[in-house]
Amino acid sequence: MADARQTVAIAVTGASGAVYATRTLAALLERGVHVELIVSDYGRRLLRDELGDQASVERLRDFLEARYGGSVAAGEINLHSNRDLGATIASGSHGCSGMAIVPCSMKTLAAVAHGLSRNLIERAADVMLKERRRLVVVPRETPMSLPQLRNMVLCAEAGATLLPAMPAFYQMPKTIDDLADFMAGKILSALGFEHELYPAWTGQARQP
Ligand SMILES: Cc1cc2nc3c(=O)[nH]c(=O)nc-3n(C[C@H](O)[C@H](O)[C@H](O)COP(=O)(O)O)c2cc1C
Repeated sequence: MADARQTVAIAVTGASGAVYATRTLAALLERGVHVELIVSDYGRRLLRDELGDQASVERLRDFLEARYGGSVAAGEINLHSNRDLGATIASGSHGCSGMAIVPCSMKTLAAVAHGLSRNLIERAADVMLKERRRLVVVPRETPMSLPQLRNMVLCAEAGATLLPAMPAFYQMPKTIDDLADFMAGKILSALGFEHELYPAWTGQARQP
């Protein structure tokens, strides 16, 4: 179980897979984590397009509670404007232990790879890299161009964990939430949290 005072940044950008973001957020909140949340303009659109108006950023807390249960109340969300480059998490002096960009668009991937820091998501990611803290990038695109592949390599070389939105099927998922649980579990592991979001591999596939 995480230290209740632990702070993690979550960035949601305009790639498909908003449910990966909401499941990750809920899993962190259930652990009493303080989440510094940044959602890009297209991240806001994808939350609503894929999960409905009830998942709009302004109503996200209620959405998380309705979908994942009241235990999300154990944590806190501090929402930042992506335009606010003066936010706490824009500085390495802020005690944020790690950050996940989930899902991560190819545009934001490129910006992180090249250290552009034009908005708070890009800047906070740059801070994680320069401070040698955990940065988990969850890209989603298919197929991928050579520049996109190279940008992933650049991020990995800079110290980020590249964790593509590629759920596994050996756990015999039955629902979209099963797929989201798997990805959220991988993200929590990469951020250093223990979890039981999917069963550990036993050496044999579960029966369909
Ligand atoms: C419905 C929809 C789905 C999209 N899916 C993806 C995607 O899966 N991956 C991606 O890289 N971009 C995707 N895009 C394009 C990005 O949203 C776009 O490049 C945007 O500028 C990303 O900006 P952001 O990184 O600031 O959120 C999608 C756009 C829309 C409208």
